[in-house]
Amino acid sequence: MPKMINLMVACAENRVMGRANRLPWRIPEDLTFFHEQTAGKTIVLGRICYQTWPRAREDGRRLIVVTSDPSLEAGGVRVARSVPAALAIAETMPGEIYVNGGERIFEEVLALDRPMRLHLTLVHAEVLGDRYFPEWRHLAWREVSRRDSSDENFRYTFLTLER
Ligand SMILES: NC(=O)c1ccc[n+]([C@@H]2O[C@H](COP(=O)([O-])OP(=O)(O)OC[C@H]3O[C@@H](n4cnc5c(N)ncnc54)[C@H](OP(=O)(O)O)[C@@H]3O)[C@@H](O)[C@H]2O)c1
Repeated sequence: MPKMINLMVACAENRVMGRANRLPWRIPEDLTFFHEQTAGKTIVLGRICYQTWPRAREDGRRLIVVTSDPSLEAGGVRVARSVPAALAIAETMPGEIYVNGGERIFEEVLALDRPMRLHLTLVHAEVLGDRYFPEWRHLAWREVSRRDSSDENFRYTFLTLER
């Protein structure tokens, strides 16, 4: 049986998750959660996410970068030309599989008919941006956990959903 896929994202109420190749906010509690949750895991991510995440290769993460550029394969980083190819590699690697975006990768993975867990930080704001997490609310999720939090700029909720 294939492994459970974990998706991890922080998005606003209007589903914005990125702007100009960066996060559209700075939420330290969420960044800490993201780094702790993904440490030691097998991570599937797009080229831009990889190139803009300075700590990606730290903390024992095993990276599979979805890209058409094979020259990115170096120093323990695997590359795959497609999401199915990346997930096939991930199945052969130890530990849990985490999918960290970006937009097209989330779209493809959410459309798969297989067990998945969504670690969603829902930022309670409408935010300007150019990358969106796909609509997820119509899918048949079971809520596993929920925790509300906030800082001086944002209110947000850490949700774990499964289907
Ligand atoms: N808030 C969050 O939790 C969160 C999470 C993820 C991303 N983001 C934000 O989203 C933005 C980055 O995401 P992005 O969507 O722009 O880029 P991305 O997915 O990280 O990278 C895009 C590149 O990855 C490859 N790629 C992506 N999907 C593919 C597919 N389905 N099949 C084959 N190749 C694929 C292609 O690489 P080649 O061009 O090399 O072929 C493509 O040009 C940033 O703003 C980031 O901050 C936010």
